[in-house]
Amino acid sequence: MKKTNFYFYCYCLFVSICVACNPFNNNSNTQQTTTMTPAQKKVYDKTDKHSFAKPQDAVMQHLSLDIEVNFKEKTIAGKATCIIRNINKTNKLYLDTKGLQIEKVLLGQQPTTFKIGEEKPFVGQALEIDIFSNTDSVTVFYKTSPEAEALQWLSPQQTADKKQPFMFTQSQAILARTWVPCQDSPAIRFTYDANVKVPNGLLALMSADNPTEKNPQGKYQFKMNKPIPAYLLALAVGDFAFKSLSPRTGVYAEPSMLNKAAKEFDDMEAMTAAAENLYGKYDWGRYDVLVMPPSFPFGGMENPKLTFATPTIITGDKSLVSLVAHELAHSWSGNLVTNATWEDFWLNEGFTVYFERRIMAAISGKPYSDMLELIGLQDLQEEVKNMNNGEATKLKLDLTDKNPDDGVTHIAYEKGYFFLRTIEEAVGREKFDAFVKKYFATFAYKSINTEEFLDYLNENLLNGLPEAKAKIQAEQWIYNVGIPENCPKIASERFLQVDRSIAAWLNGTTLAHIKTQTADWSSHEWLRFIRNLPEDITVEQLKELDKYFQFTASNNDEIACVWLTLAGKKSYEPAYYAIDRFLTQVGRRKFVVPVYHALYTNKDEKAKNWALQTYKKARGNYHFLTVNTLDRLLRPE
Ligand code: BES
Ligand code: ZN
Repeated sequence: MKKTNFYFYCYCLFVSICVACNPFNNNSNTQQTTTMTPAQKKVYDKTDKHSFAKPQDAVMQHLSLDIEVNFKEKTIAGKATCIIRNINKTNKLYLDTKGLQIEKVLLGQQPTTFKIGEEKPFVGQALEIDIFSNTDSVTVFYKTSPEAEALQWLSPQQTADKKQPFMFTQSQAILARTWVPCQDSPAIRFTYDANVKVPNGLLALMSADNPTEKNPQGKYQFKMNKPIPAYLLALAVGDFAFKSLSPRTGVYAEPSMLNKAAKEFDDMEAMTAAAENLYGKYDWGRYDVLVMPPSFPFGGMENPKLTFATPTIITGDKSLVSLVAHELAHSWSGNLVTNATWEDFWLNEGFTVYFERRIMAAISGKPYSDMLELIGLQDLQEEVKNMNNGEATKLKLDLTDKNPDDGVTHIAYEKGYFFLRTIEEAVGREKFDAFVKKYFATFAYKSINTEEFLDYLNENLLNGLPEAKAKIQAEQWIYNVGIPENCPKIASERFLQVDRSIAAWLNGTTLAHIKTQTADWSSHEWLRFIRNLPEDITVEQLKELDKYFQFTASNNDEIACVWLTLAGKKSYEPAYYAIDRFLTQVGRRKFVVPVYHALYTNKDEKAKNWALQTYKKARGNYHFLTVNTLDRLLRPE
């Protein structure tokens, strides 16, 4: 081979490798290799309706943040450097922003021009930056708005210890762009590092390698060496202390909560080991949990290396720690294998719920996970009913012109779960587990859509098992509304006991006697008990239940939520002050929404007004995501 030919050959080889490796290159002439499986050959449309980024032209690979957190102004300000791969030698880079003030943009050290696009509902504004065909680094100087939707700023009074302020981010689904200019799409992954300056006396923590002690200058450095999508960017700043639980797990909390939290989360190492035993190595190094303030809008958020968790699961009896199993499971489903768009959200959550219940079965036994499963089925049935069996009950969603937050329903979680259970039942656990393990390994650090999953499922599991395939009807589960007929029939021995107790009470057995059978009930049995009371229960009966079981005074927020919802629905006034207290103290959306809804849709004016008055007082304590849902629910006529 002549020298020039050789170089040309090398060049062609290089180009074809680059083209084949570019996950955003949808060009059909890249599919020439014969060794590819049909699934690899297929081109999947992963266009993200909720991002302005054009990753097929220029894509972010690394983010360097240098920011300062200002509690007085309620802002974060500084610079974000994006290391990019300019795939198509384009002269425009598109980043997502929402409400950010952009001061200037540099290419290396040189200023460049940029434009901020028109505001699009939910999605925000494109930041269009002029770059060169060889640009590989872009630095944006910016400041967040005090109303940045990802951020919640709490005064000392709103924290557990009431001494220091607290700030945290919630980036999922599309709120990272309200605190960092970036390509905010779950199909785009980048590594990151950060320098974060905070006021003295506070500790900063991120979804990265974390410090365990405060630094006298309030300066912290972070590194995340594995590529993650922007929705997993996270930062929390507050008065946190750390306690180790095992060489690779630990808990951060405000000092007064630390010991209680450590006791509650005592099983974290066992959970991690159980998870690894099921589906492969935990790949993120450490797994820690940060206990959030009660206004945290979710139960938990799977920020890599550092799950954010609501304090409402700290009950003293470990009965609600399946939430930690859930967030831990996301370290595989979601954080390793990620939904390519928010329309494929069920891939994140359905798999995670499945994995969560397998972890819980391993550490707490099958009767325990059977209860979780049955509560899940009940949630799913109610959701499908409330949605009138409509479009929103499909696993694959259509979120055109919709907020991805609208897709956060029991469908993704529980219909997703029962779809996977259906497959497990049809092919047997052994084959299913081998498949899931291989699925995580195959797509680790990749973002896939539902169609890619379906092809992978057929090629790696179902095509070889035609009988099982016919039984499962995967397309029907994914693309049709409602709950398919072949949904597994499930039962829980422990819930049967609960149901018998209810029936006995309704047939005349005294509550004094029933109480003697409930000594070993966990939170879940009590949830079943309250949820399965008869529709036509009277205020007198509620009073009697309260006398024996003190539901209104419950410190368990999960129990308080279902009881106070029932109280609101039935105008059970003795619980109204407890409702008021609950709604002003807790901001977890899943808890406050049903209670407000019950009061607000009650025909009794007093109940309705109670909801509106309480909301007026409590609204200021909630995170944007909770406020956004409640503003829509509680529209005063
Ligand atoms: N990742 C979710 C929370 C989320 C989803 C935030 C979508 C924003 C948009 C988290 O893993 C989750 O599912 N949390 C649940 C707990 C769980 C045990 C079902 C929650 O917060 O209730
Ligand atoms: Zn989840």
